[in-house]
Amino acid sequence: MTPDLLKKGAERIAEHAKLVVESTESGGRSAGYGRVVQDADQVDVTHGRILYLEDVSVSFDGFKAINKLSLDIAPGELRCIIGPNGAGKTTMMDIITGKTRPDEGRVFFGSTIDLLRHNEPQIAQLGIGRKFQKPTVFEQLTVFENLELALKTNKGVKASMFFKLDSVQSDRLAEVLHTIHLSDSVSKPAGLLSHGQKQWLEIGMLLIQDPKLLLLDEPVAGMTDHETERTAELFLTLKGKHSLMVVEHDMSFIRTISDIVTVLCDGSVLAQGTLDQVQADERVIEVYLGR
Ligand SMILES: Nc1ncnc2c1ncn2[C@@H]1O[C@H](COP(=O)(O)OP(=O)(O)O)[C@@H](O)[C@H]1O
Ligand SMILES: [Mg+2]
Repeated sequence: MTPDLLKKGAERIAEHAKLVVESTESGGRSAGYGRVVQDADQVDVTHGRILYLEDVSVSFDGFKAINKLSLDIAPGELRCIIGPNGAGKTTMMDIITGKTRPDEGRVFFGSTIDLLRHNEPQIAQLGIGRKFQKPTVFEQLTVFENLELALKTNKGVKASMFFKLDSVQSDRLAEVLHTIHLSDSVSKPAGLLSHGQKQWLEIGMLLIQDPKLLLLDEPVAGMTDHETERTAELFLTLKGKHSLMVVEHDMSFIRTISDIVTVLCDGSVLAQGTLDQVQADERVIEVYLGR
């Protein structure tokens, strides 16, 4: 990202949030532009954005799945993404997590980390966690063992050979168990959990790695109404501590958790605003009803 673009973005955000960027602690951190930072604790959000996509495009066999997509997310924000099937929602997450390389555009984590210069494992290490549609927990292992494994994986292979939970990690594990409503099922094999509980466990496996940004693709698909409500509560408790990008079709779920909703269509942003605002937008009505 060029300093000019950064400045433009910062001005827009400052206007938005009535923030005076110049007064921020490290407002003049211009020496850092474009450098590769490996330590997730160094994600620079002084410009008010944890994720920044600009003019991103990708084609598959000549078909533009993502088309000049620009979008940004504030630290601690819970952003909902909706849009018809094939809009490019999953492909956008593939790009952010390094699974798919865009043909053009910029993708930044904070204002200094160029995600296009990192591969998938590096991006996870930097603090971007992703939850795919289908739960991928280890069915034979208990809830506890699944979480412990996620903690080990985070430490890297070498450290995991000598891995033993210390008290801080035990506390963290207990806290995550509580957050995902599975404290009563610690010794249960994951295979015996309900679909919703498996989804929560997988979210827990991400949380234990303390991601800065969490991407969740259709997290309540296939859940019962009760599980969906509890998932909404869970997401609301995560908001502020983590930044979240949630793709969902379930509008009552979106209504419960959303502040700003972004509507994707044909690989770019069609509309953005509160759920009421975007649902009243003629173009949004057209793409949902007109096809
Ligand atoms: N790896 C791929 N190869 C070819 N086409 C793809 C690939 N990934 C996605 N697409 C196409 O890109 C478009 C967007 O897909 P996707 O991101 O899955 O949409 P959404 O998640 O919004 O339903 C679709 O038309 C899909 O068929
Ligand atoms: Mg999808």
